[in-house]
Amino acid sequence: MQRLDGPEPSPAAEASAGPQAVAVVGLGGIGGVAAGCLAEAGIHRIVGCARRPLERLTLERDETALDLPLRTLTDPGEAEPVDWVLLATKAQDTAAAGPWLERLCGPSTRVAVLQNGVDHARRVAPFIGEARAVPVIVYYNGERIAPDRVRLRHIGGDDMIVADEPDGRAFAALFAGTSLAVGLSADLLTLMWRKLLINAVANPIGALTRQRQVVMRRGDIRALGLAVLEEAAAVAAACGARLEPDEPERTLARLLTFPEEAGTSMYFDTLAGRPLEFEALTGAVVAAGERHGIATPLNRALLALLSAISDAARAAA
Ligand SMILES: NC(=O)c1ccc[n+]([C@@H]2O[C@H](COP(=O)([O-])OP(=O)(O)OC[C@H]3O[C@@H](n4cnc5c(N)ncnc54)[C@H](OP(=O)(O)O)[C@@H]3O)[C@@H](O)[C@H]2O)c1
Repeated sequence: MQRLDGPEPSPAAEASAGPQAVAVVGLGGIGGVAAGCLAEAGIHRIVGCARRPLERLTLERDETALDLPLRTLTDPGEAEPVDWVLLATKAQDTAAAGPWLERLCGPSTRVAVLQNGVDHARRVAPFIGEARAVPVIVYYNGERIAPDRVRLRHIGGDDMIVADEPDGRAFAALFAGTSLAVGLSADLLTLMWRKLLINAVANPIGALTRQRQVVMRRGDIRALGLAVLEEAAAVAAACGARLEPDEPERTLARLLTFPEEAGTSMYFDTLAGRPLEFEALTGAVVAAGERHGIATPLNRALLALLSAISDAARAAA
């Protein structure tokens, strides 16, 4: 274990912290790509924590496919405390991954939460004891093509962004020398809400209409999207996000730049009959609206519909 007590390390000291023990919980699109990129760089000791055993992982990137050895565990009882846990399950599976977190965390462990939403630290708090949560905004696209094969697509700019504070800088140092670029932000809260605004429209509408981004080209759907965004932006501002006055219009314009054939993860989960990540997205808007006394009737309607779809998928599983 890396010794982290004593004076706060400088950024330079963090960058040269040496090989770290890293456990990646959830080897799907995001966790598989993170594990693959770390394994490719060969600096740290990586273990995957999954429900099915793997011995190798193929990482596709651009025109290349790298075949990488990856040690995986399938029983939390075999896990020991590590320097870093990268939690990359869907948000609704955090509690199910709790036994992994409990075994992998010691007092100096840092838990990087590679999930969507705005409540990363609150979500893992029940399972990590004295370990520290490090919220991560993920911008890269990770697709699991097969249980042992993932594809990385860079979306442009940083692949991930963390807070510009010691734990965030240590996370950036962990990925130095890999093909994932980690940016630092002095205002992570605003960036988290910006990403949530996109997700709170694109995911529910894709799931409920069972259509890809092409559905956003309809005038009536654009009008609905804008109204959903106006509610969510008011909530975000009440939570301290520093948004532009025309943030809803800007967000909608950004959504319309996405390729028509792109599908959201909630769209794919709906088609596959899997439970949906709605609580961390629409649920977060509605819950924060309640805390701040802001009415969110459209988001609340979407929440009820998504909840019904997700519950039915869970019951059928
Ligand atoms: N994919 C993207 O491009 C993207 C981009 C930005 C943000 N995100 C966010 O990143 C997070 C991860 O998304 P994803 O797309 O990587 O999801 P995903 O492909 O569905 O992968 C989730 C993985 O978690 C595993 N898992 C679930 N419960 C587990 C448990 N109890 N123990 C061990 N593993 C468990 C699943 O295992 P099984 O294989 O056994 O089901 C699966 O491999 C989400 O919050 C998502 O919104 C995704």
